[in-house]
Amino acid sequence: MTILVTGGAGYIGSHAAVELLKSGYNIVIMDNLSNSNFESINRIRELTSKEFPFYKCDLLDRDELVTIFKNHDIEAVLHFAGLKAVGESVEIPLKYYHNNITGTINLCEIMAKHDVKKLVFSSSATVYGNPDRVPIDESFPVSATNPYGRTKLMVEEILRDLQVSDPTWKIALLRYFNPIGAHKSGRIGENPNGIPNNLMPYITQVAIGKREKLSVFGNDYETHDGTGVRDFIHVIDLVKGHLKALQYLDSNEGVETFNLGTGTGYSVLDLINTFSLVNKKEIPYQFMERRPGDISICYANPTKADKVLGWRAEKDLKEMCKDSWKWQTDNPNGYDKTTY
Ligand code: NAD
Ligand code: UFG
Repeated sequence: MTILVTGGAGYIGSHAAVELLKSGYNIVIMDNLSNSNFESINRIRELTSKEFPFYKCDLLDRDELVTIFKNHDIEAVLHFAGLKAVGESVEIPLKYYHNNITGTINLCEIMAKHDVKKLVFSSSATVYGNPDRVPIDESFPVSATNPYGRTKLMVEEILRDLQVSDPTWKIALLRYFNPIGAHKSGRIGENPNGIPNNLMPYITQVAIGKREKLSVFGNDYETHDGTGVRDFIHVIDLVKGHLKALQYLDSNEGVETFNLGTGTGYSVLDLINTFSLVNKKEIPYQFMERRPGDISICYANPTKADKVLGWRAEKDLKEMCKDSWKWQTDNPNGYDKTTY
């Protein structure tokens, strides 16, 4: 029995692949490498000393997808593949709807045809929109403020409809909070294209001298220091939640939603200060206007995942900062471009 990892060359998928292999699963990775590099596949093999098939393949290419299901005895799918840049999704919404929604529909149709009905989907805390209060639990109302967020909401709904139509589906919708950090080895990590949108990759690029200073978007939020508050979670903790979800689906039909967060909110300044402290690196920054669309405070109530899956995040902010920095210093230019 084998787990198919879609988007397994990407940031979270590559860490999940390592964790799956280390836990004794067989895997197949498919990825179109639109936002990743084949070198991450080499590194997964290097870190685990294990072989697995890799398909450079697009979710929109149904024939290729069918080939994967014909060639392998797939038992379940961890579905990470998707486009995730919020700003780009506003500029080219149809690309996002087509890639994230049509891609997932293709995947589910082909899974069903091959009687594979166990799916773990990468959703996002973005589906909570601008929450009334924190911590956020899974019963909070959902909404979206941009096309990226809407693709996550729509896919969640599509998967619920699918499960109603065929109750033998077993689906976990995992709503991630803010994943940062990297594998301890420094061999795999987040490898953004161009100017990073997200806070941690921006901080590490300032620290290494690739960017002059960090812009802190807003210091007038109603938070303890005026800057935005988020639930940063170590990517290794996050992927461990996927393994727990897979085990849960072995014996539970239906659709279940889980928050994957630590339950603690830290501000942008908390993150900068912790990074500086543990890595002995000053991060020059300046306060700027709020970034349009940003919310003030977002952190999880992760109790459901603890009770139902037996999962909770273990790594603290210091470890996240250390591991992100090791990845950046060991790979100043990310993955060297290897062609597939
Ligand atoms: P990533 O971009 O590093 O990884 C996604 C991978 O999917 C990439 O390797 C990309 O090449 C691949 N891909 C995209 N479209 C594809 C397609 N049509 N066919 C095949 N491969 C395709 O992103 P990530 O940070 O690892 O995120 C993984 C998933 O988690 C995404 O679905 C993302 O929306 C979701 N998520 C991420 C975050 C975050 O902050 N990183 C937060 C919440 C949810
Ligand atoms: N920030 C800065 N400067 C930067 C980048 C970010 O001050 O250069 C601030 C933001 O204003 C925000 C905080 O840092 O207050 C976190 O911003 P990120 O862009 O790192 O993360 P977001 O919470 O905005 O969004 C991320 C993903 C979304 C996902 C969401 C919830 O980008 O796709 O987490 O999982 F939906």
